[in-house]
Amino acid sequence: MKTAVLRQTFLEYFQQRGHEIVPSSSLVPHDDPTLLFTNAGMNQFKDVFLGREDRGYSRATSSQRCVRAGGKHNDLENVGYTARHHTFFEMLGNFSFGDYFKQEAIEYAWTFLTGADWLNLPKEKLLVTVYASDEEAYQIWNEQMGVPADRIVRIGDNKGAPYASDNFWQMGDTGPCGPCTEIFYDHGPEIPGGPPGTPEEDGDRFIEIWNVVFMQFNRTADGDMQPLPKPSVDTGMGLERIAAVLQGVHSNYEIDLFQDLLKAASDILGGVDTEEASLRVVADHIRSCAFLIADGVMPSNEGRGFVLRRIIRRAARHGNKLGAREPFFYKLTGALADLMGEAYPELVRTRPQIEKVLLQEEEQFARTLDKGLRLLEQDIADLKGSEIPGETIFTLYDTYGFPVDLTNDIARERGLSLDYAGYEKAMEAQRERARAASKFGIDYNVAAGIEGSTEFTGYEQVDGHETIRTVLVDGEAKNAQAGDEAVVVLERTPFYAESGGQVGDTGLLTWSGGRFQVTDTRKEGGNHLHIGTVIEGELFPGLEVDARIDHARRQAIALNHSATHLLHAALRNILGDHVTQKGSLVEAERLRFDFSHFEPVTPEQLKAIEAQVNDQILANEAVGIEVTDMEQAKAKGAVALFGEKYGDEVRVLSIGRDNFSVELCGGTHVARTGDIGAFRITSESGISSGVRRIEAVTGKGALAWMDETEARLRKVAGLVRGSRDSVIEKVESTLERNRQLEKELEQLKAKLASSAGSDLAGSAVDVNGLKVVASELEGADRKALMDTADQLKNKLGSAVVVLASTEDGKVTLVAGVTKDATSRVRAGDLMKKLAEAVDGKGGGRPDMAQGGGSNPAKLPDALQQVATWVNEATS
Ligand code: ALA
Repeated sequence: MKTAVLRQTFLEYFQQRGHEIVPSSSLVPHDDPTLLFTNAGMNQFKDVFLGREDRGYSRATSSQRCVRAGGKHNDLENVGYTARHHTFFEMLGNFSFGDYFKQEAIEYAWTFLTGADWLNLPKEKLLVTVYASDEEAYQIWNEQMGVPADRIVRIGDNKGAPYASDNFWQMGDTGPCGPCTEIFYDHGPEIPGGPPGTPEEDGDRFIEIWNVVFMQFNRTADGDMQPLPKPSVDTGMGLERIAAVLQGVHSNYEIDLFQDLLKAASDILGGVDTEEASLRVVADHIRSCAFLIADGVMPSNEGRGFVLRRIIRRAARHGNKLGAREPFFYKLTGALADLMGEAYPELVRTRPQIEKVLLQEEEQFARTLDKGLRLLEQDIADLKGSEIPGETIFTLYDTYGFPVDLTNDIARERGLSLDYAGYEKAMEAQRERARAASKFGIDYNVAAGIEGSTEFTGYEQVDGHETIRTVLVDGEAKNAQAGDEAVVVLERTPFYAESGGQVGDTGLLTWSGGRFQVTDTRKEGGNHLHIGTVIEGELFPGLEVDARIDHARRQAIALNHSATHLLHAALRNILGDHVTQKGSLVEAERLRFDFSHFEPVTPEQLKAIEAQVNDQILANEAVGIEVTDMEQAKAKGAVALFGEKYGDEVRVLSIGRDNFSVELCGGTHVARTGDIGAFRITSESGISSGVRRIEAVTGKGALAWMDETEARLRKVAGLVRGSRDSVIEKVESTLERNRQLEKELEQLKAKLASSAGSDLAGSAVDVNGLKVVASELEGADRKALMDTADQLKNKLGSAVVVLASTEDGKVTLVAGVTKDATSRVRAGDLMKKLAEAVDGKGGGRPDMAQGGGSNPAKLPDALQQVATWVNEATS
């Protein structure tokens, strides 16, 4: 059975059993700070498991793209060397949200695998594990499915802590988790490896194909296991692994999809053996890299981008091992799009973008590889002992993307070893920094634990009389007193909580005898958290308060938000459809918009973009807001963002004439485009490879910016004694005059030098038949020194001329020898000595040489020496 058919069969099997087929979510998890990449089918359902979201169905099935190359589940180092590990893979899954539990979950899995109408696998090839204390699961397998006791393995806590077990699954350090039962396939005794629970379990003989998790708890940051609202089911079957079983092959790399990919990679690399481990690495890595880029990740030095960069570099390094001397990896994108484009059309759509990003990264790596090698050479030259220090290995790795195994190869060639312990220490320090940086400002679980959800009234209202539901001080629910920093949750609120790039509202909560200054509003689960300080009085649940946002600030934010939508549309009109949003920040003072584009936006393009936005502002069209479903929104051509999770209802914003911009958005906006007033781009820059940033201002901000620009213009006009209208000519004529003066100065200098030259001719001394001049020429630049030296050579006949000048602590040196004398003394040799004497460097031809030095104090002595050196050379 082909992989593509298998994927479809699985989804249909569960659809027939009442499951909703849900599309794969992005590899970039939406709004989940606990997760680096989507690593399992259940990720997109996390809030459903936790009871915080209702999707309108209680059974779902999906084929989810996953990356396990960083964070809790990381398989990167194994890839290419085992039959079953990948950075990218597809996970087939079925889910029950408080619907069925252990009994059906096991029955569904068993029937799909062994049923005559389905995969029809021989039962005796299958083996299952259960969590040691899960009697219920054991009984279902044994008594109802008829799996004999000798093929059911109980696995307890085998990772050094309670609930730390191969048979207890959790998504990350926190979040939904529970005991699981796993189904293994026995690939036969000819393959090394033992059954699960034995010391040989890591071999490739018994391969886990399906994990059925009984979701029962939410693990919190302090290790607490809170029961979920309803017991649920989450399962995951690796598509590549089950395909291998069905196609009668042992290694995932032998399935149809990988064979085609390996073949393509081999062709690109000039016919490499498809069994090569390095080729497998390349074939694996193109999948994670291409999908990550398609989902909007860009190589960078932190977070997700850094993981992507590591994977690309690992692929480049393995390609290099296979003989690639030019970028090659990006060329695999086409083959991948051919193979997987039907199931994942985004791959086809973003193919040009993926190729560009990969090519650029490969080229850049080729250069850093070079730099890193030089740094390593330098360090080896300076080495005292025979061990390369951990810090060096780490810097090479971290700054130059230099794989440790490459450093190790080079060290081995020189008979050196690596200080791995020091390297690990530096790595650990780095990880610690990363962990610290990724911590959430508010305790995620405390905030997440707040019951219920806040009703948002702020689309229509700026204030309201509201009731307090919860008050948190230092993460604990308690009353807040004057001076306390606190988090307040209201039943209803006009305060917009930060999301979609728009910052949270600020404002005041007031009540009789009390005031709470809200400095930020954020969202957690369904609740708006008002963050701030009690100015006076006491805050407690049940208290009724007047909630009022800073309206002027909100209005300024709305102008910038609507302008951001217009900017996005204008960018796509002017630059092309490859422009996608990479980030945005909408504040009161300005807006910032990051987008994918490969070169600087030219001034003409910026002008055109600005003009389109201002046209729409002048059109003063009413802004359309419609709440509808996803299908309708798509039909309207609404732009949705990768990585965003949209509910059943979406809010469609249409801004500008003829629906100039149509976007899904939950933010607050102007009523008419004319409210924006004016739009000015204040800067355009690159922030990482392939990502540009535009900053802009609107409304009063735009006026202030124009005022300031004008004030600067007036200042310049004043400086050149002109007016607004004449300033350009005035500046031009000032520059022209400047050029003329420079030219005159040049000529004067040359004249001075030449008269100094005549004077110097008189100071020549005779050394073994050669006229020798060695002198300092004050104020002369290099050109003047050369001209004077030439003149002196002409005037003196057989001669050696050395001239020098000093400026700003630097010495400039010139030496000339007449042609007839170069067989006796060479200018280049003289210059070397001379330059060394003033702590510098120099060299050149036998008849003319140049140099410089950094120690003017030594110059007089050095010039004194010249006659002696000529004497030594010529006698
Ligand atoms: N979420 C479970 C896993 O990833 C099914 O193994």
